[in-house]
Amino acid sequence: MTSISTQDYIIHFNQNSYTALNNYIKENSFSNIFVLVDSNTSTHCLPVLLSNLVTELTIEVIEIEAGEQHKTIDTCLGVWETLSELRADRKTLLINLGGGVVTDLGGFVACTYQRGIQFINIPTTLLSMVDASIGGKNGVDLGPIKNQIGIIKTPNMVLVDTNYLSTLSAREMRSGLAEMLKHGLIYNESYYNKLTELSDLTLDDLDQLIYDSIEIKKAIVEQDPTEQNLRKSLNFGHTLGHAIESFYLNHKTKALLHGEAIAIGMILESFLSAELLNLSMDKAQQIKNNTIKVFGKIDIPETDYAAIIDLMKFDKKNEKGTINFALIETIGKSKINCVASNELIINSFKFYNE
Ligand code: GLY
Repeated sequence: MTSISTQDYIIHFNQNSYTALNNYIKENSFSNIFVLVDSNTSTHCLPVLLSNLVTELTIEVIEIEAGEQHKTIDTCLGVWETLSELRADRKTLLINLGGGVVTDLGGFVACTYQRGIQFINIPTTLLSMVDASIGGKNGVDLGPIKNQIGIIKTPNMVLVDTNYLSTLSAREMRSGLAEMLKHGLIYNESYYNKLTELSDLTLDDLDQLIYDSIEIKKAIVEQDPTEQNLRKSLNFGHTLGHAIESFYLNHKTKALLHGEAIAIGMILESFLSAELLNLSMDKAQQIKNNTIKVFGKIDIPETDYAAIIDLMKFDKKNEKGTINFALIETIGKSKINCVASNELIINSFKFYNE
């Protein structure tokens, strides 16, 4: 697959990626290389990366615990301290090998350590391949508030090796699919239809769908890198989805993966789109059916609505106390800065539950 060039960096795929990485290391006079992994990617992905790296430089590995609950400033502190103890300097290269937590947190650590060192993202989950590792959003959560602390700075390179997906659970794969469905819903109807119509997904199909998803995200981010307007559309499903994810974060049976929460958010926000914009209720129902077919349904009791709605006050699209939704006018066309009443939001939960 041909590499995708963005304004600031290149995304390489599969067999080309390690050649590109080795050439990049050869061309830049790095002092040393640090690889950030979590407890999963340390076992399943690090050996693959190390066997493909050709360099005389010292390679140090820093491991953090896996899971969204570790995407915190405390974890960053541990990584900063290790970098410092092991004499990382301004010419150190940090390679983030992992899912969204590793690439978001690693990017943030790289942007702040000694005021910024180079970093390369190697996403190992579907979600981080099509979303988290692309576009330069780096950061950590603050308590239950997702990505409250962070910085926008693009990586120096992204390597997408879809072979890493073979170690992923079906649940993790579904989580990534949510962001791919979102890309279709906000930007490209035929891509959305392709995703929902595929009954027999081959590995070649998957590679192409990942590639197309990255192209959509790149097109949106390049038009609005700092999220002043169009990039907000990437938050479709996220205003309610993030609140639901935060609300159930530490719940024994209902803790959701990011994509699972976003899938619910997209159903709720499709209902809002039908109520507030031109999306027909039939289409909203079709989106709900397609999504539930893949993700199933959880029970969100009425007694939880108020606390979930309350968590939306932390959404980063809010301005002057108003909660702004990114919705869809139709499949493939988004509209930003939409405002919904509490009553409508409560009805969207009922639409999901019924
Ligand atoms: N994940 C949304 C964005 O990158 O803007």
